[in-house]
Amino acid sequence: MTSKKILLPETLEGKTLFVAGAGGFVPSTLCEFYLNKGAKVIGVDNFITGSRSNIDLLSAYKNFEFYEMNVFEKLPNLKDEKIDYVLSLASPASPIDFAKIPLEIMRVNSEGTLKLLELAKEKKARFLEASTSEVYGDPEIHPQREDYVGHVNPIGPRSCYDESKRFAEAMTMSFHHRYNVDTRIVRIFNTYGPRMRPNDGRVIPNFINQALKNEDITVYGDGLQTRSYCYVTDLVEAIHRVLMSEDPTPFNCGNPDEYTIKETAEIIIKVLGSKSKIVYLPLPKDDPKRRRPDITKLQSVSDFKPSVAFEDGIRTTAEYFKSLISE
Ligand SMILES: NC(=O)c1ccc[n+]([C@@H]2O[C@H](COP(=O)([O-])OP(=O)(O)OC[C@H]3O[C@@H](n4cnc5c(N)ncnc54)[C@H](O)[C@@H]3O)[C@@H](O)[C@H]2O)c1
Repeated sequence: MTSKKILLPETLEGKTLFVAGAGGFVPSTLCEFYLNKGAKVIGVDNFITGSRSNIDLLSAYKNFEFYEMNVFEKLPNLKDEKIDYVLSLASPASPIDFAKIPLEIMRVNSEGTLKLLELAKEKKARFLEASTSEVYGDPEIHPQREDYVGHVNPIGPRSCYDESKRFAEAMTMSFHHRYNVDTRIVRIFNTYGPRMRPNDGRVIPNFINQALKNEDITVYGDGLQTRSYCYVTDLVEAIHRVLMSEDPTPFNCGNPDEYTIKETAEIIIKVLGSKSKIVYLPLPKDDPKRRRPDITKLQSVSDFKPSVAFEDGIRTTAEYFKSLISE
C-alpha cells in the first residue's frame, strides 16, 4: 500500500471518461461531476435499473455522448476514441433486485467487468471498479477496514451480488498483476440521495416514502442493527480522490456516522414532520447487523471528509421524491 498524498487536478479538460451504467443513481451524479470539470464523458446503459431522465439531464452537456447497450454483451465501437478512464459502475445494487435479476447482476459484474477491463487494457486507460461494502458480508469485525476479508454466504439471497462483486475485484487485481492495467477499486458503503429509485427497496427511500405518505415505517428485526449513510455528492468526492490516487488496492468510500435502523426511522419522521408510526417485521436472512466504513485509509492520503449532514441529505432526497410524485 502506498501512502502518497492524492493530488487533485484543477480541471479534467481534454480527458475522456467511459462510464458504464451512466443512467444510474451514483453513476449519473458522477458523470455530471466530471462533465462540470470539463471532461468528455461517454456513457453506456441498458436501463435495467437506471433511468432515461438521468441521461436526458446529462445530454444537456455538449461533452456527453450516450450509447444504449448491455455491457456484458458488447461495448460501442470506440476505435478512434482516446479514453483516459474506464469506470465500471454498471450493476443493479438494490436488495430487491437480488431476487428478481440475479443472473443479470452476476453477468454484469463478471462478463461486463471483463469487457471493461479489456477496453482499459486496449486504451491504456485507468480503470475503476465500483465495488461494495457487501464484499465484507455480515462482518465479524467493526468498523470494516480494507484488510478485512469478509464473512460472506456464497449461496445466500445476497450472494449473486456479494460474490460477483468479489469476483469483479479479483478480476480487476488480476488485470493489474497480469497486464499491468492501471486499476483502482472503491468499496462503496450505503449511499443515498436524489436520483435513487423511490421503490428501490433500500432503507432510506423506503422510510422517506413511507414518511411522506404518513404510512407505517417498516423496521425489520428489533431495529438495533446499524447502518451508515453517505450522501451521494460526498461519495462522488471520495470516488474522485480514489480515481486520482496511485494505489490499486481497495479503498472504503462512505460516511462513518452510524445510526441504528430505529434511529434512522425516528430522524426521518422528525425531519419530514411525518405522522408515521414505526412497526416491526421479522429480519430477512443474511441482513448485516452492523455496517460502518473505516475510511482512515482514504483520509490518510486525502482531505476527504463527508460534508452533508444526515438531516440535510434527508430533506433534499425527500424533495426529489416529492418532485417525482408531482410530475
Ligand atoms: N448506491 C449504493 O449505496 C451503492 C453501494 C455499493 C456499491 N454501489 C455500486 O455503485 C454502482 C452504481 O450503483 P447505484 O446505486 O447507482 O445503482 P443504479 O442501479 O442506479 O445504477 C446502475 C446502472 O447500471 C445500469 N446497468 C446495469 N446492468 C447493466 C448492463 N448489463 N449494461 C448496461 N448498463 C447496466 C443500470 O441500468 C443502472 O443505470 C453499482 O456498481 C453498485 O454496485 C452502490
